[in-house]
Amino acid sequence: MLELDKICKRFRPDGVALFQEVSLTVRPGECVAVMGESGVGKSTLLNCIAGLEPIDGGEIVLAGRRLDGLDDDAWAMLRRRRYGFVFQAFHILPHLSLVDNVALPLWLLDDKRDNARARALEMLAAVGLSARADEGPGKLSGGELQRVAIARALVHRPAVVLADEPTGNLDPDRAGEVLTLLLDAVREVGAVGILVTHSPVAAKQTDRILRLTRQGMQEAVSE
Ligand SMILES: Nc1ncnc2c1ncn2[C@@H]1O[C@H](COP(=O)(O)OP(=O)(O)O)[C@@H](O)[C@H]1O
Ligand SMILES: [Mg+2]
Repeated sequence: MLELDKICKRFRPDGVALFQEVSLTVRPGECVAVMGESGVGKSTLLNCIAGLEPIDGGEIVLAGRRLDGLDDDAWAMLRRRRYGFVFQAFHILPHLSLVDNVALPLWLLDDKRDNARARALEMLAAVGLSARADEGPGKLSGGELQRVAIARALVHRPAVVLADEPTGNLDPDRAGEVLTLLLDAVREVGAVGILVTHSPVAAKQTDRILRLTRQGMQEAVSE
């Protein structure tokens, strides 16, 4: 369970609150969509949840453990072990094969190479790319690159998966199936999934839709 309790974020030097009193509880295996105007602080919220930005009030609790207040090293270790990230721009390393891109988080956790490869192949199979495991990413389409990124984000069975506009660079035909793979993978490992998206169609695929505004976070009322 991930619990945000009235978290607040300001940016110096003016100190005006970007958002305040944002509260949210997400269960393992549940995936929520966060929508909201450009510039309202959605990406910053994900950064706060991942300890990449300090918060200015409130609490972040993961599986009963208070995270706000951890030092940088503890956050870095926690991100490596317990977090998976999916970005709009994929961030697949061009000089590594697909299987090595996916195995990378396991190498960083000191998993044995053979085990890491076996698990990475399992994840590539889950996203339909096992036949191309030893190829480089050079010839892949955007949708295929994002499938590799999803495999990489989930390979170490993280507790929290943060996805910032993961289908923002994909054409609508591909976006739905890529999102289905992401949501299935999040449910399969029992992670907390938080998906930032502008797309109402994408948001509808999740379990719950939330809207971030200056006043905080609200459950979106379904039409
Ligand atoms: N490190 C920072 N210092 C100061 N302002 C920032 C910083 N990061 C983001 N901002 C500002 O916070 C606002 C929210 O940004 P962001 O979280 O990227 O919004 P969103 O993802 O909802 O579009 C923007 O106005 C942005 O310029
Ligand atoms: Mg953003």
